[in-house]
Amino acid sequence: MNITVSEIRKRYLEFFKKRGHVIIPSASLVPENDPTTLFTGSGMQPLLPYLLGAPHPEGKRIADSQKSFRAEDIDEVGDNRHTTFFEMLGNWSFGDYFKEEQLTWVFEFLTDKAEGAGLNPANLYVTVFAGDKETGIPRDEASVEIWKKLFGEKGIEADYLELGSTEEGSEKGMRGGRIFSYDVKKNWWSRSGIPANMPLGEPGGPDSEIFYDFDPSGKTHKKEFGKECHPNCDCGRFLEIGNSVFMEYKKKENGSFEKLAQRNVDFGGGLERITAAANHNPDIFSIDVFEPILKYLPSNLPIRNKRIIADHTRAMVFLIADGVRPSNKGAGYVLRRLMRRAMIYEYMTSDPDLNLISVIAEIVRKYRDAYPDLQEETIIPVYDDENKKFLAAFKNGLKEFDKLIEKGGISGKDIFNLFSTYGLPYESAFEFAKERAGIEINKDEFQKEMERHRELSRTASAGAFKGGLADHSEKTTRLHTAHHLLLKALQIVLGTHVKQRGSNITSERLRMDFSHDAKMTEEQKKEVERIVNEKIRENLPVLRNEMSREEAERLYAEHEFGQKYPDRVSVYSIGPKGATLENPQFERAFSIEFCGGPHVTHTGEIGDFRILKEEASAAGVRRIKAIIE
Ligand code: ALA
Repeated sequence: MNITVSEIRKRYLEFFKKRGHVIIPSASLVPENDPTTLFTGSGMQPLLPYLLGAPHPEGKRIADSQKSFRAEDIDEVGDNRHTTFFEMLGNWSFGDYFKEEQLTWVFEFLTDKAEGAGLNPANLYVTVFAGDKETGIPRDEASVEIWKKLFGEKGIEADYLELGSTEEGSEKGMRGGRIFSYDVKKNWWSRSGIPANMPLGEPGGPDSEIFYDFDPSGKTHKKEFGKECHPNCDCGRFLEIGNSVFMEYKKKENGSFEKLAQRNVDFGGGLERITAAANHNPDIFSIDVFEPILKYLPSNLPIRNKRIIADHTRAMVFLIADGVRPSNKGAGYVLRRLMRRAMIYEYMTSDPDLNLISVIAEIVRKYRDAYPDLQEETIIPVYDDENKKFLAAFKNGLKEFDKLIEKGGISGKDIFNLFSTYGLPYESAFEFAKERAGIEINKDEFQKEMERHRELSRTASAGAFKGGLADHSEKTTRLHTAHHLLLKALQIVLGTHVKQRGSNITSERLRMDFSHDAKMTEEQKKEVERIVNEKIRENLPVLRNEMSREEAERLYAEHEFGQKYPDRVSVYSIGPKGATLENPQFERAFSIEFCGGPHVTHTGEIGDFRILKEEASAAGVRRIKAIIE
């Protein structure tokens, strides 16, 4: 019999309760009093003040299972391990116990058959912090020794091996090791990632991750993921199931770090992932909470589609329960996108009787013990309403869509017409064309059509084209702000030599030319995307200020190479959290640029950012095309 999510959650909380922790309820998925982020994405987020030293009313040892949502993972959903919603098991020491107790307990919990997850210790591999020259923070020797002892007690001789970066990892391979060290990119944790990206005052620290090996034979590994396999390899053999962050540092002005007044532990474990490991099944969708959804879907549906419906349906249940409602902005926009995506995939099953309402009720039942407040009476009407509204427009558009397919094909221009005439959402139409008819739509053609109409709308009498085009000028604005974030992210990842050398933004995508000599690696692109999406999630304020050109230059505001600027200029700054026109805090801004706008007021309005292409543009100049979704 497979172990359930509910059982693992219960065991974890009891385990830490026995060790002096007070169990607190999960905070809402929508952060309270925190305008910097749209969703709670980790267990520590609601506990930040206590990590920084404020006394927690329940004491120094806290544990919970925190509802979490990571919108940036939406496109990854469909494989066997990614979900947008998940629960993070967490335990914290606010200046109380440290490495020794933490690693001992988490290892005991994971391996104990009666009171824990019962994992075979031979399937566990761990990583530690390799140290960092830039900040001078040393290698985590203490954790290496603790891990050696813990594995030793289970009769496993645990060798330590230095791997450094993931590239080095795939070069060197595991060589019989059990404990591996990686650099800041893998074994340092803060809300903003690596030390260089952390804003002033942000806490962070070295961490130690635990991986479960689903395939000791190693056959899962494919060369396309790197020469050799290692814990941080993406081939699917290893799954990260838990992370102990030793949060004892805080960022200072000049990029250096100081010790916090207290040494904290911040542990986060993926509840669903630990459950999958306990059942030794690498498919996270095999756990019990997804069963009602998967069972309900027609068996001949492609597995990817099933997983998307399963993930999105569960996520919408929790988001709606926490008060999010579908809309065109912020958290509501993310929910709407999730719901519509689930609805489209559901529609594609071509089963007219299929309706997620009955599934929603079953999901609620699965979670009733841990979340007694989940009310299907609240969730179902929201789903029903959005479903009706969306499907009405969608179906009309689809009739025309099908007619066109019958006639022999569908073009980007057709999609534009379906969008402007029937309101068929064009992003859905692209997806639909691909999934159902195997047609890859020419998006450039669609784009051209959009632009032609935009030109027309400029010259047409006021209001004539307003309806259909309002959305797209909003999108251009969002892309424009994303453009600023992108430039800064490129400078962080590639270096300060990166300067903007040209740009072009339409309602569909942005294009930026910038000075840089080499093709970007996949990893660099991923990191740039990650930083931009992180800044979007932080929902930073975007401010417009007027000042003299000299003053803007003193602030090192970015300007385009070769561009002439007037004496008084408009400058846009993004961040930090809490910046206002009265107190713009330029020195702490993430980005400052000479710019006339327009921009969104907060980065959270942008949506998900994705790089489509990176290519040569001219000698020493690269070109990026990116979209927001
Ligand atoms: N805060 C840490 C994480 O999210 C535990 O991985």
